[in-house]
Amino acid sequence: MGIFYTEEKRLFHLQTVEASYVFQVMPTGHLTHLYYGKKLRHGDLSWLQVRQERSSFSPNPVPEDRTISFDTLPQEYPVYGTSDFRNPAIQLKQANGSTVTEFLYTGHSIVRGKPQLEGLPQSYVEQEEEADTLIIQLEDAVAGIKLELSYTAYNNYNAITRSARITNTGETTSEILRALSASIDFPHADYEWLQLSGAWVREREIIRKPLTVGTQSVESRRGSSSHQQNPFAALLTPGVTEVSGEVFGFSLVYSGSFVAAAEVDQFKTTRLSLGINPFEFGWQLTPGASFQTPEVVMVYSDQGLGGMSRSYHALYRERLARGKFRDQQRPILVNNWEATYFNFNADKIESIAAAGKELGIELFVLDDGWFGHRDSDNSSLGDWTVDKKKLPDGLDNLVKRVTDTGMQFGLWFEPEMISPDSDLYKAHPDWCLHVPDRRRTEGRQQLVLDMSRKDVQDEIVRMISDILSSAPITYVKWDMNRNMTEIGSAQLPAERQKETAHRYMLGLYDVMERITSAFPDILFESCSGGGGRFDPGMLYYMPQTWTSDNTDAVSRLRIQYGTSLVYPISAMASHISAVPNHQVERTTSLETRGNVAMSGNFGYELDLTKFTDEEKSIVAAQVELYKEIRELVQFGVFYRLLSPFEGNETAWMFVSKDGTDVAVFYFRVLAEPNAPLARLKLTGLDPERDYALVNGEGVYSGDALMYAGISVGSKNGDFHSELHRFKRV
Ligand code: GLA
Repeated sequence: MGIFYTEEKRLFHLQTVEASYVFQVMPTGHLTHLYYGKKLRHGDLSWLQVRQERSSFSPNPVPEDRTISFDTLPQEYPVYGTSDFRNPAIQLKQANGSTVTEFLYTGHSIVRGKPQLEGLPQSYVEQEEEADTLIIQLEDAVAGIKLELSYTAYNNYNAITRSARITNTGETTSEILRALSASIDFPHADYEWLQLSGAWVREREIIRKPLTVGTQSVESRRGSSSHQQNPFAALLTPGVTEVSGEVFGFSLVYSGSFVAAAEVDQFKTTRLSLGINPFEFGWQLTPGASFQTPEVVMVYSDQGLGGMSRSYHALYRERLARGKFRDQQRPILVNNWEATYFNFNADKIESIAAAGKELGIELFVLDDGWFGHRDSDNSSLGDWTVDKKKLPDGLDNLVKRVTDTGMQFGLWFEPEMISPDSDLYKAHPDWCLHVPDRRRTEGRQQLVLDMSRKDVQDEIVRMISDILSSAPITYVKWDMNRNMTEIGSAQLPAERQKETAHRYMLGLYDVMERITSAFPDILFESCSGGGGRFDPGMLYYMPQTWTSDNTDAVSRLRIQYGTSLVYPISAMASHISAVPNHQVERTTSLETRGNVAMSGNFGYELDLTKFTDEEKSIVAAQVELYKEIRELVQFGVFYRLLSPFEGNETAWMFVSKDGTDVAVFYFRVLAEPNAPLARLKLTGLDPERDYALVNGEGVYSGDALMYAGISVGSKNGDFHSELHRFKRV
């Protein structure tokens, strides 16, 4: 494992746990990609470079060698203008107006570990031995631009990361029009494309389709990664299942507008690329300045989608998420949003907290409506001081009343926003994103703060820090409830306006870094109207995310299943809410709501004081059960068994890291009259060992559980669910 360099062939071979990635410097100094896929033994792989003379429509940069055309040669970081007509990775507008560039290899270094990317979220190592990093140096001497391509190969995680850094070494400013994080040319197009798409309350549906000639892509232009598209795409060999077939996953560690595209060209090769969305992007690179792209995490698996997901889960849980809570069991919480919305007082809050304590719940979260004069969603964002009308004795007094019940206290913020009806807006009407002389389009009657500004960043850090230090708060829900319009900054000159959206992200990352590192004992959960910013960038700062505003158990099957393709279970918050459900008006049993919510970071989002005694005893049992299985759910190995995108049934299971504890969840949406007997084949067990049913009779062999399967679904009724637990004997 590691990174090999063969000097005489100028060939690089990166190996990670299951994959190899190979490329080479051509005699001309250009880089050509040779291979990405199942791990290869290291040896002479230069024969993988195949060159062929084509027609004059594939022009030749070296006149005497007609086998070289960038129209046909696989590239590592392609440019436009010198015979490659496919999607470029980079485009720079130079002082003379030209956008033609040509980067030639000037050298490289291989370092142990993984150097940090400044100001951006990223996967990391704890020990140098965990990874090796290759940095390739290239230069366009005409433009006076240096390019560094970084590749990290992990030794214990099945992942390779890539990013690019562009430095202006010339005398004049160049404008970056496009700077993607990675581009890879695959030798054929016999793949399916997989994307995670959706909408608010319907996030991350799995969509698969065969690749076809031309460009297929997903992108966000919303200023955030979005509910609609996730910064992820995968190429799959046709017919890939959960357990078989080759999968190439690409995940962008970024929370802003992005693009992920696959272009199939005339020779049926596929160019996969992703990075910051070039649409409405621009960056003035002044002499001496550098620009760092976000990072892409690439996972290859020849064990289907399940193999890919488990690789992402391990890396994102252990080497992307940070802080004290990374490895710590997350508290069971109750949140008052769907219980009270904006209509609460201290007595009401205390009563919910006290009811929670009685049921074994650990943390109370006060959601929206505690600050400014916020009785509805039309005011006060930006005024992060307690609403004395609603809470006359102050926030610290409320926190005391809640913590006196024995519960921890958590608080909601929406720090990136400003309401036109707020003191902050009166004082600083220029602090929101806007462009001169135009309407400021509102969403939920709010505007977006201009996080590219240092004064705005500092003021947010000050206001949020003041509240967090004013009382023993142990959890924060960091919300963000609209997308960006009129993306401009009053502080940037005209030629830098297109930098605003990315500068916003850099500003936000800086603010989150400052706040989360100043309050290491607070568990931060990110949220954007639920899962509108469920991306690896946010997970670097906050180890969990509110998966969706949709708390309906049936809807959640798809949302959580789709989310699990890339994101670990420890990142997914999932709560039981009241019925009929507030988003879809469906009524499901407390048991089924529990089984869905217990498949993630568990909690409640309803008025606990309204439970009947019978419901209370069910809830108390759920809480107790979750405490038993929470280590397994949050930190175990996750296997998907039946997909809600393919039928009426869903199933998934967890196996603890040491293999001793097993929990299997089965769900059937609609009852089927006189249905056939159903068997569910388990996976991830040791065929040579036996497993005893927990809370029941019987010892079963691992091979029979996996190859014959357990019997499920014998009970009638809609929205049916089951939990089967086993312990290895
Ligand atoms: C967003 C969140 C909800 C809730 C509300 C409060 O929609 O996703 O969970 O916090 O805001 O306004």
